[in-house]
Amino acid sequence: MPTLLRMPLRTLAHLSDLHLDLSPDSDASAQALLSAVQASRADHVVLTGDLTHQGSREEYRRFVDIFAPLLDTGRLTFIPGNHDRPGEDVGGAWMDGLKVRTVERPGVYFVCVDSTGEHNRNYFASHGELSLDTVERVEAALDAAPRDSLVAVLVHHHVLPLPEESFPERLATRMGWPHASELSLGAELVARVQGRCDLVLHGHRHQPCETVLDTAHGRPLRVFNAGSSTDLGRFRLFQHSDGRLLGEPQWCHSTQPERPRTAGHNVRPALQYLVTQLGMALF
Ligand SMILES: [Fe+2]
Ligand SMILES: [Fe+2]
Repeated sequence: MPTLLRMPLRTLAHLSDLHLDLSPDSDASAQALLSAVQASRADHVVLTGDLTHQGSREEYRRFVDIFAPLLDTGRLTFIPGNHDRPGEDVGGAWMDGLKVRTVERPGVYFVCVDSTGEHNRNYFASHGELSLDTVERVEAALDAAPRDSLVAVLVHHHVLPLPEESFPERLATRMGWPHASELSLGAELVARVQGRCDLVLHGHRHQPCETVLDTAHGRPLRVFNAGSSTDLGRFRLFQHSDGRLLGEPQWCHSTQPERPRTAGHNVRPALQYLVTQLGMALF
């Protein structure tokens, strides 16, 4: 009698935009998230950029200290965001000089994309960068994806247009500045990966959202923005088996309540950016 083989049920947690800034509040939020991740028994965790707030080595060390239980067991995959590039540019070294690289773990295959650019060394130029060459490298990486793995593209910046979250973002869009825009080839990236992977996971914008793209290609593609996990005090947990998502992702909450940091944390640098842009336009 044939043996019924059952594929193991696996879980994947998605966090983003920790913005660790060495403050006690920031440390407590990150620590509470780690505890919640451990309680969720996630097999693997992805963190889609802006781990640090100003790209400093000390902020990165704090991240390594707090998330050591996941890092030491090879259960955490992370990519750089624009906030990891200013200052001492810690994020500049995380992709080994590559724009696209792959990570394979039991049951999952990640195509990690670096959507930051040299312009992000300027703290106030927050928009991302995605070239056609990078999009083609993502396609090539997907060609090598195992059939029985959940396949996710990890990228920091948003790939599709999203509503602005603040007055400075609305103003920047109105002025035609790139500050709040989605990746210029984001829609192209989505079109090319549709039907060939299961998830696009990103951050950058601090309010979470999700988009389900049409399933005519036979393999649904879902695009999730985690938002700022430290601000929200929660993260999504995906269940999957045999390379397919099972049901809807669940929100897992940390012991830290949602904090209204986003506005104050981002409005000041955004305003400074706008002042800089205005100055450049006038002189
Ligand atoms: Fe962010
Ligand atoms: Fe960002």
